[in-house]
Amino acid sequence: MSFRKDFIWGAATAAYQIEGAFDEDGKGRSIWDEFTHIEGKISDNSTGDIACDHYHRYKEDVRLMAELGIKAYRFSISWSRILPNGTGEVNQKGIDFYNDLINELLKYGIEPYVTLYHWDLPYALHLKGGWLNDDITDCFEQYTTIVAENFGDRVKNFITFNEPQVFTGCGYFEGCHAPGYKLADKELLHICHNILKAHGKAVRALRRIVSDVKIGFTSASSPLVPVSDNDVDAARNAFFSSGKGHFIFSEAFWHDAVIFGKYPDDVLNAYGDDFPKITEKDMQLISEPIDFIGLNIYTGSYVKTNKDGFAERIRCSPGHPRTAIGWDIIPETLYWGTKFYYDRYRLPIYITENGMSAHDCISLDGKVHDPNRIDYLDRYLLELKKSVEDGADIAGYFQWSLLDNFEWAKGYSERFGMIYVDYPTQNRIVKDSGYWYKTVIENNGENL
Ligand code: NOJ
Repeated sequence: MSFRKDFIWGAATAAYQIEGAFDEDGKGRSIWDEFTHIEGKISDNSTGDIACDHYHRYKEDVRLMAELGIKAYRFSISWSRILPNGTGEVNQKGIDFYNDLINELLKYGIEPYVTLYHWDLPYALHLKGGWLNDDITDCFEQYTTIVAENFGDRVKNFITFNEPQVFTGCGYFEGCHAPGYKLADKELLHICHNILKAHGKAVRALRRIVSDVKIGFTSASSPLVPVSDNDVDAARNAFFSSGKGHFIFSEAFWHDAVIFGKYPDDVLNAYGDDFPKITEKDMQLISEPIDFIGLNIYTGSYVKTNKDGFAERIRCSPGHPRTAIGWDIIPETLYWGTKFYYDRYRLPIYITENGMSAHDCISLDGKVHDPNRIDYLDRYLLELKKSVEDGADIAGYFQWSLLDNFEWAKGYSERFGMIYVDYPTQNRIVKDSGYWYKTVIENNGENL
C-alpha cells in the first residue's frame, strides 16, 4: 500500500502572509496590521502591507500552481477584508476578491481548502475585547455564515482554526505575536474556551449551509519520536499529556475537547479553578463532529524512557541538521505524529503544513537551487509514506509554503516557499524544489 489514488498534493499559504493590499478596497485592519506597525515588534521591521502582493498577482500565482501540477491550495480568508468591522456590514470587494481567486483555481482544476482563521483577528473586534469577549463566538459564526453562503457552492473543504496553540501561546501568553499580550492562566482559559465554542458554531453553520462539506481543525504539532521500540508508550503518553509545559501549547488540550468533548484531566486538575464555567452544552457544541484533523509538523524531539517510566527528551547531538530558522530536522516526526494522532482519534489526517526555511538566493544562472529543501521534503515524505503503509488514514499533504512570505515576528528573513519571491520586484522564480515536488505529484509519491 502507498499513498491512495486520490491523495491530495497541495500547497498552503495564509492571508496576512501573502496578500498585501492591507488597506485597499474597503478592507478593515486586523491585529496584525496594527502590531507590525509598532516599532520593534518584527525583527526586520517589516510589515505585511504589501507582502507578496498576492491580492493583485493571484492570477500569476494560480498559474504557477497549475504549472507545478498542484492539486489543492490551502489559503486563509482575511476576516476583516470581508467584514471590515469584524461583524455587520459586508465589504463586497472583499467577497469579489475571494470569488475571483476561487474561480481561477477551479479553472485549472485546483481544489480550494479554506482556513477561516489564520491569526488575523479584525482589530475592531480586538478593541471590544477580542477572544475575551464572549460575543466573539457569535461574530465568528456570522463571519463563517457569510463565507459559507458566498463560497460554499464551490469550496467544500474548510479548516476552522489554524494552530490555536501558536496564536494563543505567542499572541496572548508570550506576547511575541499580535496582539502582544501576556495574560494570566484564567484569561487564557477563557480565550481558549471561546475559540473552541467559536469553532463549534462555525462547524454547525458550515454543515447547515454547505452541501458535502468536509471540516477540519489544524494543530501545531511537535511529535515526540521514540528512539527504540521500548520507548513508544512513554513517547505516546508524553505527547498527549498536557502536564509538561504550558497547557496552551499542548495538543490533547485542544483535540480532546474538539473530538472527545472533554478537556484532559491533567489540565482540569492543574488549572481547575481558573477554568471559566463550562456547561455540558458548551462541550457538545465544541465537539460537533468534524471530518478530519489537520497537522502542521516541522520538527519535534527524540525521547527515551527514563527510570521512572516517563519520556525524557534527548537533545540532538552537536551539529544535528537544522533549518535556517533553527528548527531541528527530524523526519520521523511525520511518521510518529500521524501514527499517534490516528491511533488516538481515528479520523483522517491531512498534513496541512510541512516544509523548511532555507537561505535561498538567486544564483548566477538566474535560478534558485535549494537541494537542502529537496532532501528535507524527501526524507519527511518517506516517513509519511511509511505511516500510510502502517495503516494511518492520511488524505493529503500541503507543503508550506507556495511562496516565500511574511514569517510573522521574523518578517521576510525566513524563506519557506517552493517559489522564490524577489520582494523589491515581486518577481517569482520556481525553486528547484518546486520542480521536484511536481515530479512527486505526477508519480503520486511512488518515486520517493
Ligand atoms: C505555522 C503557521 O501556520 C504559518 O503561518 C507559519 O508561517 C509556518 N508555521 C512556519 O512557521
